[in-house]
Order: sequence, then structure tokens, then C-alpha cells
Amino acid sequence: MCGIVGIVQQRETKIGKTIIEALTKLEYRGYDSVGIASISDGKVMITKDEGKISEVAEKIDIDSIQGKIAIGHTRWATHGPPTKENAHPHTDCNGEISVIHNGIIENFQELKEELLKQGHVLQSETDTEVIPHMIEQLVKKENQSLQEAIITTVRRLEGTFAICVVSSLEPDRIYCAKRDSPLVIGINSDRMFCASDIPAFLEHTRKVVLLHDDEFVTISSNGYEIIDFNSMKKIVRKPYTVSWKPEMAQKGGFPHFMLKEIHEQPNSLADYIRIDQPSLIKIAEKIHNAEKVFLLAAGTAHYSTLTGENLIRKYSKKPATSIISSEYEAISGLVDENTVILPVSQSGETMDTIMAIKHARELDATVLSVVNVIGSTITRYSDEVLYLYAGPEIGVAATKTYTAQTLSMWDIGLEVGKISGELDKSEYDSARELYRNIPTVIRQTIVRNESRANHISSWFAKKSSSFFLGRGLNLQTAKEGALKMKEIAYIHSEAYPAGESKHGPIALVEEDYPVVFVAPKDHTNKRMIGSIMEMKARGATAIVVIEEGDKDIEELGKWKFEIPKGYSETLSTIPFAIPLQQLSYYTAMRRGCAIDTPKNLSKTLTVL
Ligand code: F6R
Repeated sequence: MCGIVGIVQQRETKIGKTIIEALTKLEYRGYDSVGIASISDGKVMITKDEGKISEVAEKIDIDSIQGKIAIGHTRWATHGPPTKENAHPHTDCNGEISVIHNGIIENFQELKEELLKQGHVLQSETDTEVIPHMIEQLVKKENQSLQEAIITTVRRLEGTFAICVVSSLEPDRIYCAKRDSPLVIGINSDRMFCASDIPAFLEHTRKVVLLHDDEFVTISSNGYEIIDFNSMKKIVRKPYTVSWKPEMAQKGGFPHFMLKEIHEQPNSLADYIRIDQPSLIKIAEKIHNAEKVFLLAAGTAHYSTLTGENLIRKYSKKPATSIISSEYEAISGLVDENTVILPVSQSGETMDTIMAIKHARELDATVLSVVNVIGSTITRYSDEVLYLYAGPEIGVAATKTYTAQTLSMWDIGLEVGKISGELDKSEYDSARELYRNIPTVIRQTIVRNESRANHISSWFAKKSSSFFLGRGLNLQTAKEGALKMKEIAYIHSEAYPAGESKHGPIALVEEDYPVVFVAPKDHTNKRMIGSIMEMKARGATAIVVIEEGDKDIEELGKWKFEIPKGYSETLSTIPFAIPLQQLSYYTAMRRGCAIDTPKNLSKTLTVL
């Protein structure tokens, strides 16, 4: 949801190139337009255009963007279409103050009317453009310093923002402020960075300072200074070193981040298993002691919480309910001090989830989160955090973080089961053994199904609609498979409980209609045969995802994906998701889709 970056260097260089490289690492956040403001000869120079970073980079002369200081923006349009006029940076009337912004200014209409009355001329339809004009007004008409004017301005903003400001009035620094949108600082010996996310500067430095809400930062070649913009108190915060390596934010020989991230799963899951997190037991204890447990998440992360809800219920007999974050209102009346809220999020910045957490905290609920990005907003609102340790995920479609989320749900479910006494020791121990085997199963699953996915995709790519059917826990897998197919390959795909599909959806089935059946060899297996027969009788073409050697179902499918033995029934949601990731990837390839940056999407949705 918009990526922002700023650089302050000791020496003047072709800074446009460095900004474009950094923005490329943030492209997952938005890719509707791109813009840069650099300071050259004390003046603000703006270069911007609509389109993806690679398209804009071809149109503009990047090498001509020189200087010691620059800020850059990649946009996910909210207010106003993705045009050059609406591209950031936005400036004041004289082009002296330039601003980039991630977030939404909710009171921008009222602020805009005020500015228009004062004689300001605004060029775009964006909410952001009010910011440079408000700063200009305070500097020019009220004689405030640039710093004072920015602080006065951000105090008046309602909504969410991470902003960076450069100005010819003080050409040696970048001013930043944030509330509810992410902003981090990166430090190396001759350059300072600020950015929406760490991958933007990971190839330059691993020394990071996380900024908190309502903080204002001055970044110059001498370093950084943080103040609380409400109390004006100075904040001392030392950098820490992230363990992520620069190559984690590069494609490493794969054509797309998505394929790289699919292939990283054996390692990311092994990392999650290897890293002992004391928070796990604390989380399990708190869930055990709670009266009510609500798991909160959006999109793919929500599907992982369906495993959490199921396993907490199954292993500890405690009622747990999974809620889509934006539907939190449905349960908000039930939340109190005896409630545990368990948000699950890759980015830790999803606004629907954050808003629900904030409300639950006001009601004294305990917040226990599962997050990938260390130090992200959700972690700061949490009483305990379990990290996914999946490394940076750059492809917009969640893959490795989905399997890590699902594994973490399993981890939590097992521990709650143990503490509650409902899960006996031998059951627990054998479940843990299968759990440790999961990276191996995933490695074999990827290898076994890669060329199959590629082959089947040549047929699937010609389809305009499909069903993904599952039963029990693997309804979650079907939902995730359908979401991947929609978002990456733009093929309408609907997931349904297999048994429910006869109550309506089956009316859509016609000759050669694609239906993907997620059919592990568990207690749902026999009933799945019935569902496949029903669909085939109406002309559907069945693609079956089965355990190796499951002949009964294999012979019903035109095509099959095979999962090696070695997973348990409850763990099946992890390996069974893999071929569906691969199928959507190869189908999207054949349809010529922008796999890592699908249309209309952003990886981090910081709006409601
Ligand atoms: C789908 C996808 C999204 C996210 C959702 C939540 O592939 O990536 O559906 O899962 O936007 O994002 P996080 O996990 O960052 O809260």
C-alpha cells in the first residue's frame, strides 16, 4: 500500500538509480505510479509518471537525477486514479516543499477547502497534496520553521500516514513523521535511509531503527534524531541488526519472487521449527486460561487461522473462533478482559487487523499475535508475539508465509492441547515428530509436482472459471488455492465445501469445467469420491490433489497432484497447498500475468 524511501548521502551521486533500486524492493506495496524528488543545486527536482517502476524507469533519464538527497514513492492508488498528476511526490505552490506519503488522510476534504480559501492551487485529486500546502502556509504566512510547520501539520492530520518531506528551504535533510503506517530507518557509514520496509535498503545495511507512532524524525548526514511530535520529547533509540541477508530480497535466479518463495518453503518452515520461541508456551497458557479465543486475520492469513481454530478446538476442547478482521464488529460485543485475540499477519501492518486489535485492547482483551515482520505495528500492540521467521516475502501473493502461518497454528494448537491435558503425551510426541518432518515432505512435494503444474496449466490457462473443493480442514486449502488462482492468474475461482457444492454451485458446471479436489487420505476421503462423481457426471474435469498411492481417487481425476506420505491428517493443509501455489503460478505464466505485481493489488493493505 504505497512504498516510500528516502536517502541522505555524504557525497553527490547518481542518486536516482539508488532510489529506483530501493523502490523496486518495495514494489509489492503498490505499482500504479512512481515518483522521485531530489535536491540538486539547492532546488527540488521532481520526476514522476504513471506505470510500474520498470516502465517509468525506461521513460525517464534516471542518470540525470543526481544529488545527495532524494525521496521516492511507488503508489497504490486510493484517492484519484493512477495518473502522472496523482503520482507522488506532491509539492506546495512554489515547488519548494515536496512530500511523499503512505496512508490515508481522512480529513483531507476539509483541509483542502481551507487551503483553497487561502489561495492555494492544488493540482491532483490526492489526499496527500494538502500536506505540502499546509506546510507552505505555516512557513510563509506564520513564519514557522520547516520543522515546526511539519509538526503542526501532522498534528492536524486524521487517518494514517508515513511521510517524508524534502525542501529547498533546508536542502541538507529529510524530515519524516508517522502514525499507523510503517517507517524504518537504515544506517550505514556513508548513507542514511528511511523506508516503508527493510528490503528497500537491505543490500546497503542491516542496521535498522524502527519508528513508532507519532514520531518525527530528522535524517541528515550527521545521523537521525527522533522526537515525539505530541510531547516534543526527544527519544533515544539505538539501531539493531536484522538477521535478514541481502540475497533474501533478490530473485536468486528464479524468474519471479513468487516461484523463489514457493521453493524457499522447506527452509522457511525448517527455520520456524528450529528457532525456539519462549513466547509459544506463554501464548498457549494464555489461550488455555482465556474464556474466549478469537483468531483475527485477512486474506490468506485468515485461511491459516482456520487451522488454528480447528486445532485449538480439537486438541484442547476450547471453543476458538476465526474471524475475518474487517468483520470484527460481529464479535466486538463479546470481547472483554477474559478474551484472547490472536491476530495472524505476514506484514503486521494490515489496517483491518490493527483496528480490530486496537478496539479489543480498549476492552482489556489479551492480544497474542503471529507475525512475520519483526517490530511491525501489530507486534507493538501485542502482549506476546510468535514470529514466523519466513524472511522477507516480496511476491504479492503470500506463499511461504501462508505455510509458516499454518504451521504456527499447528504449533499453538498442540501446546494448548498439552497444557489443557486433553492431548496425551504419546499423541503429543508423535504429532511433534510429524511436525519436524514437514520440511522434508514439502521439499518432496515441490519437486514431485513442479512439472505437473506446468503441464496442467496449459489447459487451465484457457479457462475462465473454476471450482476448488475441499472437506474438513482442507476446505481451508481449497480456499487458499482459489484465492491464488484469482489473484495471480485472474481466473474466477470459487472454493466450496465439497459436500455443499451440490446445493447450488454445481449448476455452473458444464463440459470440461475445471474442478480441483483437495483430497487427502483421511476420514473425508470416501465422501470426496461422491463429490467427484457428482461433478464428473455433469461434465466436470477433475484435477485431484491426493496422497501418493491413493488409487481410488487417482483414477477419477484427469490430472493428479501427489503428496508424499509422512504428513499427519491435521498437518495436511500445508503440503496440500503447495501444488495449488504451483498451479496458479504456471497458469499465470501462460496467461502472461504480472505474477509478482498482480493488477489492483498491494501486499500490505494499510487502509480500511
Ligand atoms: C494473498 C495475500 C493477502 C494477504 C492479506 C493479509 O496472497 O497475500 O490476502 O494475506 O492481505 O496480509 P497480512 O498477512 O500482511 O496481514
